[in-house]
Amino acid sequence: MTLTARISLATSLTATPHVEHTPDWLVQQLEAVRASLLGMMPPQTLWLADALQHSLGRTGKLLRPQMTLVCGHMVGCTQTHALIEAAAVAEMIHIATLLHDDVLDDAELRRGLPTVKQRWGNEVAILSGDYLLAQASLKLSRIGNIRLVGIFSEVLAALCDGEVNQLCSRFQLDMTMTDYLTKCQQKTACLFGAACEAAGVVAALPEPDIQALKQFGLAYGVAFQLVDDLLDFTADAASVGKPVMGDLCNGIVTAPIILAMQQPHYAAAIRQQVDALFKHMQAGQPADDLQRLKNLLQQADSFTLTRQLAEQQLQAGLTRLPHTSESLNNLCQRMFVPLSKRG
Ligand code: FPP
Ligand code: MG
Repeated sequence: MTLTARISLATSLTATPHVEHTPDWLVQQLEAVRASLLGMMPPQTLWLADALQHSLGRTGKLLRPQMTLVCGHMVGCTQTHALIEAAAVAEMIHIATLLHDDVLDDAELRRGLPTVKQRWGNEVAILSGDYLLAQASLKLSRIGNIRLVGIFSEVLAALCDGEVNQLCSRFQLDMTMTDYLTKCQQKTACLFGAACEAAGVVAALPEPDIQALKQFGLAYGVAFQLVDDLLDFTADAASVGKPVMGDLCNGIVTAPIILAMQQPHYAAAIRQQVDALFKHMQAGQPADDLQRLKNLLQQADSFTLTRQLAEQQLQAGLTRLPHTSESLNNLCQRMFVPLSKRG
């Protein structure tokens, strides 16, 4: 990748995102990923089949598979079938984590629809996640690349670690930026890292190139979580399909709060507001005065700072790569599109 290409991407990340259309090869490969997901061994139980249909039938942008496919394309991988199967594994793990996450978060809505836990109950939600993980393992065994088994197994361990980490730090206002970024790596970025690393492994790249893809994926994942956490404050409920400021109401402290508390002029007021909110939530009372807190965060510039941190993370990830591609740049820009639609 030339320096010019890097600089122009850095500029475009801060401008209004201009996203190119999806190229035909990627449309076709994503269709193959969808077919692979739908072609998994069907369960015999009706409830499980319905719950899986509900989860798989509304797969979103297939972002993690796109990372595998785009990285594979960028490095000239010719093992297309293995790439598609590895991409499908990344998505299956992602959906399984969401099924479990919605139980942990007691979430009623996902992507604007009732969650599996809401429609079929906690047991079916947990077991459909487990079923997906089992099917992902089966797929991995069929790809026949033992290194991929290790990569995705490590991700599963990190995801559990990250989730318990988050559980332990609920309602703790003193989370540092380092703790927060570690949690982002564990609960989100590791799967993006694995999705990119898998492309390098399938393409049998030299080790430093595989590691560069992994590092890019990790940085992308941290940036993605930062944007997601920012949207929790800035997006309207209808566009994200879940309640606004839900993280904070669940006691989860994220970048906009941490960054605002680093501003001496605002730290005390924000601490007082969040403290009061946490006491309300822990006492089972409804949240009030969320708008006042949002205004304070806005005045402290913490939404802009969060976005800038996401851009820096992504840029740092891109610099790990020896070169990039139009499709990869496009994927990077897409991350910021929802921010321009904020409510
Ligand atoms: C969404 O976070 C959840 C995750 C990124 C990871 C969830 C991980 C687990 C439940 C543990 C591991 C599970 C398996 C199956 C190995 P969020 O709640 O911030 O996002 P949301 O707003 O989309 O729910
Ligand atoms: Mg959740």
